[in-house]
Amino acid sequence: ELGPYSHFMQKEIHEQPKALSDTIEAILDDGFSAALFGANAANVLPTLSGVKILACGTSYYAGLTAKYWIESIAGVVCDVEIASEYRYRDAFADPQHLVVTISQSGETLDTMEALKYAKSLGHRHALSICNVRESAIPRASDLVFYTRAGAEIGVASTKAFTTQLVSLFALAVTLGKVRGRVTAEQEAQYLAELRHLPGSVQHALNLEPQITAWSAQFAAKNDALFLGRGLHYPIALEGALKLKEISYIHAEAYPAGELKHGPLALVDENMPVVVIAPNDVLLEKVKSNMQEVRARGGELFVFADADSHFSDSDGVHVIRTPRHVGVLSPIVHSIPVQLLAYHVALTRGTDVDKPRNLAKSVTVE
Ligand code: F6R
Repeated sequence: ELGPYSHFMQKEIHEQPKALSDTIEAILDDGFSAALFGANAANVLPTLSGVKILACGTSYYAGLTAKYWIESIAGVVCDVEIASEYRYRDAFADPQHLVVTISQSGETLDTMEALKYAKSLGHRHALSICNVRESAIPRASDLVFYTRAGAEIGVASTKAFTTQLVSLFALAVTLGKVRGRVTAEQEAQYLAELRHLPGSVQHALNLEPQITAWSAQFAAKNDALFLGRGLHYPIALEGALKLKEISYIHAEAYPAGELKHGPLALVDENMPVVVIAPNDVLLEKVKSNMQEVRARGGELFVFADADSHFSDSDGVHVIRTPRHVGVLSPIVHSIPVQLLAYHVALTRGTDVDKPRNLAKSVTVE
């Protein structure tokens, strides 16, 4: 069942080009059409004035990434909230805001309860982005998009996450299209970018030997810091979560611009700092944040892309994906942080597929 792989997590990381191809197949065939999100979506999407995303854990980080896409591509307000927080507060509800739940399992109790609560507050429409057909959350939603990642067995979510991301990107473009913000030319451009995505993810997977070479250095540490900005800040969060849940190393993520507001005090030679630094509009800002880390003796482990123009120097280690992929870059940069967590955990000898204290599907509060 595992084929050439040692764990389900490793297998599932490597299944991502296929999981992504399967998930985008219908989009590549028919374009970004409302019908992707259910029979009634063509009526619902044009009536919306905002998006409210509810999820837990890794699925919540997919939502955080989507906020950047939805506000910039669709031009509608998007807020993202942890389901267990939302369900117990007196929240403001605009009936024209679409509730979007994101869940691999479709059974997470807090996400399900947050959905019911949102409906009770007056939200009219709910979209479920889910990997398990006919599970509880999609059954309670009027709109559905199924990710086609296939069964995910490792407790740490990997292929479910990247397929959630691509689904949310499709939602952003589709909303932009029905609102007249995405032109036919832009749509063609986004489709071309999607078409290249599985190949770019495969290139990122090919970095595994380089990433493995870093793992011993992390495995010997007690802590790690992950930094990113903009679209890549949620990927830093996801990298820190993956590392802590399977290697038991304490890891935190910050938007790099927040360093000097507190976390810089933690940085010394015992604090490896992982930076997600592809060539986007914030790269120069990220580079100056990296200098702040170096000046305090922190060692930098940088995931860049071909256009970032970094090279290794004293205390700065760089691994580059072969090309910059524009707005889909967070999906490609999810791969190296997954591989890093996996290989650090292997080095430490933890139970990668079944980390202590955790369950695959959290159906209790
Ligand atoms: C982390 C992880 C969890 C889940 C969370 C939500 O690797 O897998 O944080 O993302 O428990 O689960 P779903 O997506 O099934 O609602």
